[in-house]
Amino acid sequence: MSLQSLSYTDEVAEATAPIYEKLSRQYDEAHWRTIAPYIYEINRLKKEKNAVILVHNYMTPDIFFGISDFVGDSLMLARDAAKTDADIIIQCGVNFMAETAKILCPEKKVIIPDTKAGCSLADAITAKDMLALKEKYPGVPIITYVNTSAEVKALSDVSCTSANALQIVNALGAQGHKDVILAPDKYLAMNVAAETDVNVIIYEGSCEVHERFSPQDIIDARKSYGDIVVLAHPECPPEVMAQADYSGSTAQMDNYIKKNQPKRAMLMTECSMSDNVAAANPNVEMIGTCQMCPHMKRITLPKILKALQTESPEVEIDLEIIKLARIPVDRMLELS
Ligand code: 13P
Ligand code: SF4
Repeated sequence: MSLQSLSYTDEVAEATAPIYEKLSRQYDEAHWRTIAPYIYEINRLKKEKNAVILVHNYMTPDIFFGISDFVGDSLMLARDAAKTDADIIIQCGVNFMAETAKILCPEKKVIIPDTKAGCSLADAITAKDMLALKEKYPGVPIITYVNTSAEVKALSDVSCTSANALQIVNALGAQGHKDVILAPDKYLAMNVAAETDVNVIIYEGSCEVHERFSPQDIIDARKSYGDIVVLAHPECPPEVMAQADYSGSTAQMDNYIKKNQPKRAMLMTECSMSDNVAAANPNVEMIGTCQMCPHMKRITLPKILKALQTESPEVEIDLEIIKLARIPVDRMLELS
């Protein structure tokens, strides 16, 4: 089927009706008629090609609910990639997530629908910076956040995600390390340092999205909605975390809402996550504020369909780098 021939037929309407039932608050009917043919065709084609679609929590609801085989945070998507027996993995997220999938499944075709989907954290540290860190702190283990390039992972002792950073730091502490380096997110490192006896050495990187939140956002929301529950991603500055009721990875925040069903909640994280949580929890009123990640928003249904049709652009990583980068990723999966 060519992109031009995508149309809202009775067959498309029927096949996508259960998805629209969930998303009718997010998309009006006219808008849905333009989206549904993509969802239908992507789902048809992925079966034909034995492809799986991994979808991060920051994808828009059409992608999140419409075409995903697996949804979750960076850690869950890495685990799901490692388990799949599909021939093709389509990563709906950003480059470092697609690279992690390729590191774990080098024999598979891993495709990211837009190679410009970067990340300010991954850009904050290079292989050269890693070598400089090793020289400055000889013998100190380097934990790198999963939001890094394959080259940086290849020079790391262990990887971590926001879901397990504290656990990994404490695991190294239990092995006798008094100091560890946690790079490149300075805020994640500060937030972890506040909860451990291990000395966490910080690197100067940050998420361009989460650093924009301020404690005043929470103070103002509490004034307007007294009974609001505030959940913050640990990439937020410590002053923001201090005002929040709960902190966790995107999946941990999602689980908290599912389990506790607060009357009102506010997520200090990317905008689409609030939309997805709202669609899945109709009894919870989701309150702004949010910040948009421009990199995540590069991934759209038309680009995903094109990626499936053309089986490109494929993630390509040097085999030697894959071998080295797999060591810290496997270590993280074992420790968490
Ligand atoms: P999670 O691992 O919590 O999903 O975070 C990934 C990310 O990029 C947050 O900005
Ligand atoms: Fe990177 Fe921040 Fe976007 Fe997450 S939200 S992908 S950390 S820039």
